[in-house]
Amino acid sequence: MKRAWWQEAVIYQVYLRSFKDSNGDGIGDFGGLIEKLDYLKNLGVDAIWVSPHYESPMDDNGYDISDFYQVSKDYGSIEDVKALINEAHQRDMKILFDLVLNHTSDEHPWFEAAKDKNHPDHEKYHDYYIWHKPKYDEHGHKMMPTNWRSWFGGPVWEYNESTDEYYLHIFSKKMPDLNWRSEAMKDDLKAMTLWWINQGVDGFRVDASNHLEKDWDFPDGHPGYEYFSSLPKHHEYLEEMSKEVFKPNNVMTIGEAGGATKEEALRYCGFDSDEFDMLIHFGHTWADTDNQNFLTPGKWAKGNLRLREIKESFARWYEMLGNKGWNIIYWHNHDQPRILSHYGDDGQYRKESAKMLAYTLYFMPGTPIVYQGEEIGMTNVDYQELNDFRDVEVYTEYDNFISFGASHEVAMQALRDRARDNARSPFQWSSEEYAGFSDVKPWMNVVGNYKEINLEDQLQSEDSVYQTYKHVLENRKEDDIAFGEITFIDLESEDFYIYLNKTRFATYYVVANFTGETKNLTLSESLEGYHLLHQNYPDTEVIKEMILRPYEAFVLRKK
Ligand code: GLC
Ligand code: CA
Repeated sequence: MKRAWWQEAVIYQVYLRSFKDSNGDGIGDFGGLIEKLDYLKNLGVDAIWVSPHYESPMDDNGYDISDFYQVSKDYGSIEDVKALINEAHQRDMKILFDLVLNHTSDEHPWFEAAKDKNHPDHEKYHDYYIWHKPKYDEHGHKMMPTNWRSWFGGPVWEYNESTDEYYLHIFSKKMPDLNWRSEAMKDDLKAMTLWWINQGVDGFRVDASNHLEKDWDFPDGHPGYEYFSSLPKHHEYLEEMSKEVFKPNNVMTIGEAGGATKEEALRYCGFDSDEFDMLIHFGHTWADTDNQNFLTPGKWAKGNLRLREIKESFARWYEMLGNKGWNIIYWHNHDQPRILSHYGDDGQYRKESAKMLAYTLYFMPGTPIVYQGEEIGMTNVDYQELNDFRDVEVYTEYDNFISFGASHEVAMQALRDRARDNARSPFQWSSEEYAGFSDVKPWMNVVGNYKEINLEDQLQSEDSVYQTYKHVLENRKEDDIAFGEITFIDLESEDFYIYLNKTRFATYYVVANFTGETKNLTLSESLEGYHLLHQNYPDTEVIKEMILRPYEAFVLRKK
């Protein structure tokens, strides 16, 4: 099979709002991204996925779109978009936009018409969304149609006076879900997608792509995800988009879906898939939850790391797709905490564990996505006040924690550990005020450690996390690492992350102590022919019987 460009690419995710502010309003923007293209090129990036840039009231930082055809004034103009695409292409880099097809903002003109009985376009747009008449209890009190719980914590239904109906929103109440059973609605989304393709974008990351279909019988269920996520019919919608819009125009697509079965995995992103080229999945992203914590439950409950679960998720995906499809590898995105604080150690072993995380992920086959700031070892936020947080989800969940009996302190700690905002604080470019992100106070506070953790310093030091990322990403290009064959060694181990990646040109042997403790390890492979390519302690001596220090890791290579 001929190789596709995206199989050889390193993708970098830019959370635009927090990447670089170019015009002094405290908000990252296209100007800032354009300024930093050379930086990204130099890091080894081939394609940039940009978080949603469309007009939006910013309830969910742009995933709530009020006009698909306008660029948010926070980020610039359509001229800036064209300049970005052009400048990126000149550097032989691709641009991927975030495509949000599951919902709009409640301030989108479609919804404004849909919700208002007296609006001249009411008839046309009502059907673009999902409505249900109220239920009534025995006392005649209005009740929600179901007891489903939204992904952001509250109910999924919001009452609408004008039509005496509830509308469905599986995210925030300012994000009504679109009705994919409406042909007219689908036609509008297809036209919109085509319009962006015509602006020159190279591909899309398709947001929330497994949520498009709902169970229209509306059975009760709490949280009820099985009634509004991953229903069989969403595959048909994706196929339709792909066949009519993505494939004919030769754009690359990355879907987003949790919990896929083997059959679904190939359907989403097998080489003959009619849906996507690749898929973002989540099996490895919350391998440290504590299901005995009822005060801050679910993903918010921080427990012990189950390393085996991380490796098993990756292994399962390699197995499911085999040579019939292509994998994405990534540690985290804008929806999970910072990987260094999450699976590494952002204190005493900050550098060692950041490098360990780079070795363990980026010598694996597939297409990597690096999340902004990961390459300098950025950490979770240090916010002390609830209103330091910006994410809409934080506010519904904080109230839940308090109602479950958590103290303010316990709730705040859960936010600092687990909230999505942890990954969304401004990029730490330098030790200047506001970390060189902006000249003014940013929309969201910079983490207090920017004087110790910033790019400017790390560019100057050979030993920095940044330099490790740069070298590792270079290595990926040398030996066809993306196309290698991976074998995990001692997959069951909760302490070690070890694998071989055999490529056409070399074999990589990656060994990591994933814990903060000293561990004994007998290497299972013969060391003959290998040389040491990377190490996160200066004096590592690779021998059969090893005593690995906290987070000690290394990469061996054999030609
Ligand atoms: C996706 C996005 C997330 C967003 C949600 C709703 O999961 O990654 O950030 O809040 O969809 O659009
Ligand atoms: Ca700005």
